[in-house]
Amino acid sequence: MSSYNALHQSSLADPEEFWSRAAESVHWYKRWDRVLDDSDKPFYRWFSGGELNTCYNALDLHCDTGRGEQDALIYDSPMTGQVKKFTYFELRDEVATFAGALANRGVGKGDRVIVYMPMVPEALIAVLACARLGAVHSVVFGGFASNELAVRIDDATPKVIVAASCGLEPGRTIDYKPLLDEAINLARHKPSSTIILQREQSRASMVSGRDFDWQEVVAAATPHPCVPVLATDPLYILYTSGTTGEPKGVVRDNGGHVVALKWSMANIYDVQPGEVYWAASDVGWVVGHSYIIYAPLFAGSTTVLFEGKPVGTPDAGVFWRVIADHDVKCLFTAPTAFRAIRKEDPDGRLLKNYDLSGYRSLFLAGERLDPDTLKWAQEKLGVPVVDHWWQTETGWPICSNLLGVEVLPVKEGSPTKPAPGWDMQVLDDNGKPVGANEIGALVAKLPLPPGTFPTLWNARERHFDAYLKDYPGYYKTSDAGFIDEDGYVFVMSRTDDIINVAGHRLSTGAMEEVLADHPDVAECAVCGVADQLKGQLPVGFLVLNAGVERDPSVVVTEVVTMVRDRIGPVAAFKQAVVVKRLPKTRSGKVLRGTMQKIADGSQWKMPATIDDPVILDEIAEMLRTIGYARS
Ligand code: COA
Ligand code: AMP
Repeated sequence: MSSYNALHQSSLADPEEFWSRAAESVHWYKRWDRVLDDSDKPFYRWFSGGELNTCYNALDLHCDTGRGEQDALIYDSPMTGQVKKFTYFELRDEVATFAGALANRGVGKGDRVIVYMPMVPEALIAVLACARLGAVHSVVFGGFASNELAVRIDDATPKVIVAASCGLEPGRTIDYKPLLDEAINLARHKPSSTIILQREQSRASMVSGRDFDWQEVVAAATPHPCVPVLATDPLYILYTSGTTGEPKGVVRDNGGHVVALKWSMANIYDVQPGEVYWAASDVGWVVGHSYIIYAPLFAGSTTVLFEGKPVGTPDAGVFWRVIADHDVKCLFTAPTAFRAIRKEDPDGRLLKNYDLSGYRSLFLAGERLDPDTLKWAQEKLGVPVVDHWWQTETGWPICSNLLGVEVLPVKEGSPTKPAPGWDMQVLDDNGKPVGANEIGALVAKLPLPPGTFPTLWNARERHFDAYLKDYPGYYKTSDAGFIDEDGYVFVMSRTDDIINVAGHRLSTGAMEEVLADHPDVAECAVCGVADQLKGQLPVGFLVLNAGVERDPSVVVTEVVTMVRDRIGPVAAFKQAVVVKRLPKTRSGKVLRGTMQKIADGSQWKMPATIDDPVILDEIAEMLRTIGYARS
């Protein structure tokens, strides 16, 4: 039997044995009572009764075992022209002191802290300081608007919010502080204080008695030791798009998280302690949590924090420059980043300016990897290119080629095979298994492995309804796909209203809620249509109220502004068309799938149940006016 098969089978045959062995490399103050606690099915917990500290495992452990002088973090910012390195000793000391500062502001075990920061070292320091105290961090991505931040403040009820005065996007400075002030204003829950990192590019005005300066609170603080927490205590909440405007607070616990992520570094990414690993994502996304912050540090590797874009900062060679400058062994990013680079430098000419001889592998995730991008990356880089599939909920890959175990042949369009602990199956609408190569719902047999989400914050019932109810005994991924005769998994599309825009997960339902609030809009729909660069882009369909005589293009401009203001620029909602009616089935269901196919210019069939077929021609015509619906 191949080593992949043997490993995977052993993980399913005896998960407790498999994961307790992996847990041996983790530092525990107290060993667990049970490896897998199934006393509350279908909710499972890992390593119950165990005590540890996540920050200790990320930093202090390496300081105490001879790695203190090694770089833990390299901050490389083409936005500011800065490169700054922190050894494990330095990072530990900065984190311990900031933990002291948070404690001085009243933060203790179990308290929530929202972190609203761009890609600066202080974002990692704040997150790790929370982990050190046993406090629960919740990072909010900078591209979200005040309203989204306010929703998260009300759900997480943080004691303190840590933010920066500004973020830097190519060509513009984004003042975070006014967005934060507005969010606190909108929220019902008020944090007792905020800590603001003043960046020189744009300093923030402070509210006396509520806002505290990062430098000042740090100067007044003393280092705080690591606080032991239960393996099952929450480490963080990360909000992700659900099928309504209300985001889901995905919870990660402490114990299973360290065990799974540490295991993944050597076995999935094949990166060893002391080597440099770079996830070019953002700390606001799950990839940033798991693979910018935690996993590389658990493993004793060096992590790269990159404040820039794949193109334009200053050019499409910046990824190669960072790899060469810092001797990066493994790069992880989204296919969109590679599509952007390829568009600017199709022949890969900029690659020749850099020495990439030490570079070993590329991992891509966050959206479907199209075969053209896969081939381009393989050909230009000459290293294994690994498509791997995962979700905010799962925290680490569901399926991947395990480079540290056995390199399996690549099949285009497939993230290869399930990682250990993942028993993947494809079920039909009635919950019955389908045959090889037949499309259905991709589900994972419970229990999920450690490191996945134990629950949603304050929403156990929603957790059950969204993930566990439809297929009893399984976790519903909400992705559709198939498994071929060799056991390769293919992920085709979401089964809900989630779309992936530049690797960012967005809810079209949330956008529809905003459009519906426009006084002239009677009905609306938002579909994700195919985009060559970003994978998908949202397009709105608006039906105006009877009697509205305003220029439709003005309404379109207004709804575009509304989505930007309420959800944020990251939604990339820039296009909408006004139509007479929305196509519906006779029972009144909006035919979003058909509209999407028309917009994509792909083959579509007239739905048998449509109430008014003529409307589809009108929709196609309107879409052509904005560049879509061309076959
Ligand atoms: N703070 C504030 N605004 C932000 C932001 C942040 N952290 N991140 C993005 N935005 C803004 C952008 O400035 C842009 O605004 P605009 O409409 O005024 O131009 C908007 O949100 C959309 O951003 P994005 O989707 O990133 O598009 P882009 O055109 O700026 O860049 C790429 C395109 C391909 C370069 C970029 O999407 C990219 O690097 N993608 C890689 C994917 C990735 O890292 N995914 C993470 C999951 S692994
Ligand atoms: P997120 O929670 O933001 O990580 O988004 C998760 C979703 O992104 C998944 O449910 C998939 O729809 C999609 N996704 C992530 N990785 C892949 C991949 N390798 N192939 C196809 N889709 C992917």
